[in-house]
Amino acid sequence: MKVVLPGGTGQVGTILDRALTAAGHEVTVLTRRPVRAHHIGWDGATLGRWAAAIDGCDVVINLAGRSVSCRYTAENLQAMMDSRVESSRVVGEATAAATRPPRVWLQMSTATVYAHRFDAAHDEATGVIGGSEAGVPDCWAHSIEIAKNWERAQAEAPTPATRKVALRSAMVMSPDRGGVFDVLSRLARLGLGGPVAGGKQYVSWIHDEDFVRAVEFLITRDDLEGAVNLASPGPLPHRDFMRALRTAWGVPVGLPATRWMAELGGFALRSDTELLLKSRRVVPGRLRAAGFTFAYPEWESAATSLVERARLVRAAARRARESSHAV
Ligand SMILES: NC(=O)c1ccc[n+]([C@@H]2O[C@H](COP(=O)([O-])OP(=O)(O)OC[C@H]3O[C@@H](n4cnc5c(N)ncnc54)[C@H](OP(=O)(O)O)[C@@H]3O)[C@@H](O)[C@H]2O)c1
Repeated sequence: MKVVLPGGTGQVGTILDRALTAAGHEVTVLTRRPVRAHHIGWDGATLGRWAAAIDGCDVVINLAGRSVSCRYTAENLQAMMDSRVESSRVVGEATAAATRPPRVWLQMSTATVYAHRFDAAHDEATGVIGGSEAGVPDCWAHSIEIAKNWERAQAEAPTPATRKVALRSAMVMSPDRGGVFDVLSRLARLGLGGPVAGGKQYVSWIHDEDFVRAVEFLITRDDLEGAVNLASPGPLPHRDFMRALRTAWGVPVGLPATRWMAELGGFALRSDTELLLKSRRVVPGRLRAAGFTFAYPEWESAATSLVERARLVRAAARRARESSHAV
C-alpha cells in the first residue's frame, strides 16, 4: 500500500512510519522540514506540489498539529487549534482534488474529547462529549473545542470516494525517547512516580503495538467510518497506573504529588496539568464490537513489555555512546 503521513515526524508518526515500512508499505511523510528521502515538504495549511503524493495513494493518516505538550497560554491554544483544523482542511482539499483519491483517510483526534469523569467509561455510543463539566479549568473546554473542530474539518470535507475515520486515541505508549511513556518512566525511576492529586483520575492508554494493529484493522475494514476510540479496554486510576509502572521498573515507592506539585511539575515538563489531572475513562466500544482483539488489554503486562523494550533502547544508546567515545 502507498501510505501518506502528514505530520508523520512526531511520536505517533515515528511509530507508524517504522511499523508500516517494516510491513512492506510505501510510506511518504509530509513535514515542514523534510530531511529524509521519503519526506515531502508542506506547510500544513495551503495546497502545493505535495498534494501529488495524496493523488494515487491508498491511505492518508493525518497526524499534524502543534504539540499539546506545552503550557496552555492563549497563544499556544490558538496554535494548537489552527494547526489541526488547517491541516485537516487542506488534506481534505487535496483528497477532493485527487483524480485517484485515497480509499481511506484516518484523521487523528483524541480521547480528550470526552468529559472529565470517574463514574462510568466513555464508549462512542454512550460517551459524553466534554466541555460543560463544572469545577474544571476553562482551558480544558478549549482542548475539547479543538478536538470537535478538528473532527468537523474532516467530516465536512467533500470527499465522497474516501472513507473517513476519526481516531479518538488515548495516550500511545511506546519506549521511544521523549514520548509520554519515557517521561513517566523517568519520574518513576527517580522515585517521583507517586499518585498526583490523590490519583483517582483515570488514565486511558494504548500500547503502541495495539495502536498500529488497530490502524491496520481500520484500514482494511470498509464498514467502519466516523469516530472510533483507540484505547485499551483497561483504563485505570492514575494511582494504580503509576504503581504498575513502578513495579515494572522495580522501583518500590513513589512520592505522592499534590495538585500544586503537579502544577510545578507540569511547568518543569513544559506541559499542562490537564495531561495529568483530567480523568479520561475511555474504552474501545466500536473496535471490540467489530472483533478487534488487544494484545495488551491490561496495563500491568503492557508496562512490563514496554519496560523490557525501553531497557533495550537504553542499552543500545549506551553502546553507541561508548563506541563513539572509543574512536
Ligand atoms: N501521542 C499521543 O499519545 C497522542 C494521543 C492522542 C492524540 N494525539 C494527537 O495525534 C497527533 C500526533 O501526535 P504526536 O504525539 O505524534 O504529536 P507530535 O509528536 O507533536 O507530532 C506532530 C507533528 O505535527 C507537525 N506539526 C507541528 N506543528 C505543526 C503546524 N503548526 N503545522 C503543521 N504541522 C505541524 C510536526 O511535524 P513537522 O514539524 O515535521 O512538520 C510534528 O511532528 C497530534 O495531533 C496529537 O495531538 C497524540
